[in-house]
Amino acid sequence: MPVSAPAAAAARPDPAAIYERVRRVIPPMEWASFADDVAAIHELKRQKNAVILAHNYQTPEIFHGVADIVGDSLALAREATRVDADVIVLAGVHFMAETAKILNPDKTVLIPDPAAGCSLAESITPADVRLVRERHPGLPVITYVNTSAAVKAESDICCTSGNAKKIVESFGLPEVVMVPDEYLARNVAAETSVKIIAWKGHCEVHERFTPDDIAEMRRAWPGVVVLAHPECPPEVVAAADFSGSTARMSEFVGAQRPQRVVLLTECSMSDNVAVNHPEVEFVRPCNLCPHMKRITLANIRRCLELGEHEVTVPADVLERARVPVERMLAV
Ligand code: 13P
Ligand code: SF4
Repeated sequence: MPVSAPAAAAARPDPAAIYERVRRVIPPMEWASFADDVAAIHELKRQKNAVILAHNYQTPEIFHGVADIVGDSLALAREATRVDADVIVLAGVHFMAETAKILNPDKTVLIPDPAAGCSLAESITPADVRLVRERHPGLPVITYVNTSAAVKAESDICCTSGNAKKIVESFGLPEVVMVPDEYLARNVAAETSVKIIAWKGHCEVHERFTPDDIAEMRRAWPGVVVLAHPECPPEVVAAADFSGSTARMSEFVGAQRPQRVVLLTECSMSDNVAVNHPEVEFVRPCNLCPHMKRITLANIRRCLELGEHEVTVPADVLERARVPVERMLAV
């Protein structure tokens, strides 16, 4: 997705203009409780020379209200290399903040809640990766970006859901290892002739969707176009009309303008895309990511006020993790 700069990224954003954009997804009473934090965060960003990078799963008052750069994991990693500010606030989960730090070792990277984790990142350790390597000598190890810096440090290259197929095929080999998301690996394998050895990690949000959910939605909402994130089980992706990263789903809606659409992914994504497409009807089955939802306007404000919580990566891990992340960005 071309990385969008939300209205909030303007130098002196007008809170009324921000609300005008999000009024379809945030009721006026709710906005009243956000307005003070929104204004304070803009002032703090100016004082501290800080930027806010926000993932597509952040709530609309963050995504459209205070973020400077928004996007999928790939876009956030790419944009992190271009940031011209002293402080980066990562409104997203911990592995995203670590990736920003890996790419900006000399900048201060803050995360509003350090407990914002990820079930995929939790599913694998550096020792696991070393074991997989021992079991499959000579095969390149591709690590999904939803992993800790220490796991990335054991890998040959990283990938995101936006570039996984390209990365798998970039080796020109018949077989590769891709960890830790089993479903992403199987979904990518279905699109290429490369054999992929996978791990058993799953996203706790996307694994909950089923083909029966899709059948039920098609019955209840005739004509609905179904978009599924590739972290969904392969049977779900097969039953959908399109599969792609959060950025690709957003692009799909912008390019195809379906009359009625459902995004099989995290809840806030539909709100954020709906803001830009009032003509599209969004069906909203809601699976929340509890980790993404740890980030709030209140803790973003606090994090800028107090300079907490700083994300650090030990120097030796950072140096080793930077190699696979930079290789990914170069592909
Ligand atoms: P994207 O890279 O598609 O934004 O996905 C990140 C993520 O955490 C999905 O659950
Ligand atoms: Fe991790 Fe899934 Fe949450 Fe994304 S949605 S951060 S993969 S748990």
